[in-house]
Amino acid sequence: MSVNIAIDGPAGAGKSTIAKACAAKLGYVYVDTGAMYRSIALYMIEHGIDVSDENLVSSNVSSVSLDISYADGEQRIFLNKIDVTGKIRTPEVSAAASAVSAYKKVRESLLSMQRDIAAKENVIMDGRDIGTTILPNADIKIYLTASADVRGNRRYKELTEKGIKVDLESVINDVKKRDEADLTRAVSPLRMASDAILIDSSDMTIDQVVDKIVNYVNGMIKK
Ligand code: DC
Repeated sequence: MSVNIAIDGPAGAGKSTIAKACAAKLGYVYVDTGAMYRSIALYMIEHGIDVSDENLVSSNVSSVSLDISYADGEQRIFLNKIDVTGKIRTPEVSAAASAVSAYKKVRESLLSMQRDIAAKENVIMDGRDIGTTILPNADIKIYLTASADVRGNRRYKELTEKGIKVDLESVINDVKKRDEADLTRAVSPLRMASDAILIDSSDMTIDQVVDKIVNYVNGMIKK
């Protein structure tokens, strides 16, 4: 049986950086489910499909084929056979991903893909509903959060370092807007599983969070 670790939490809590580092230390596969929603969003943008139109998005989901591969701990995602790993990180795709992730049809299209990966491999899977919906029997569930200001500042730094020009205030506002959308959507809203461990990373370094999770996993999982 594979070991499954779920990490959920709001945008910018550091989930992907932390999950990736934990996976490297533990020798697990890191699965970034947000990239799947982002790729569907990118498809809609590239095809001129209005992401606020649920019916239109839903009827086009079947045209999206996603493939995931792993090399050196990095997840690469292919949208209809084209590697879009780098292309899905823009603020435009973030906003569209938040919109499409609220649609039932979109979530259903990704559920079995996410479960299949977790059934085959020891994974650390990050997302919003991994501990509550996708892997309700995960061995360990973590809910990673931080204040909206801290998360906005982190996102700003990340985007600026990639050469993407943004302004801090609008990044913080985007974080708050996405929180609101992710928390209030009808289908699979972001919430902490009742058996998850809460980690607030506002005043913690990445290394501190990684150590905390790795130590916890090592204490819980019998090798
Ligand atoms: O983690 P991220 O920023 O890459 O996620 C992009 C969007 O996808 C975000 O608005 C929330 C959504 N998402 C989701 O609804 N469920 C997941 N398991 C992962 C991401």
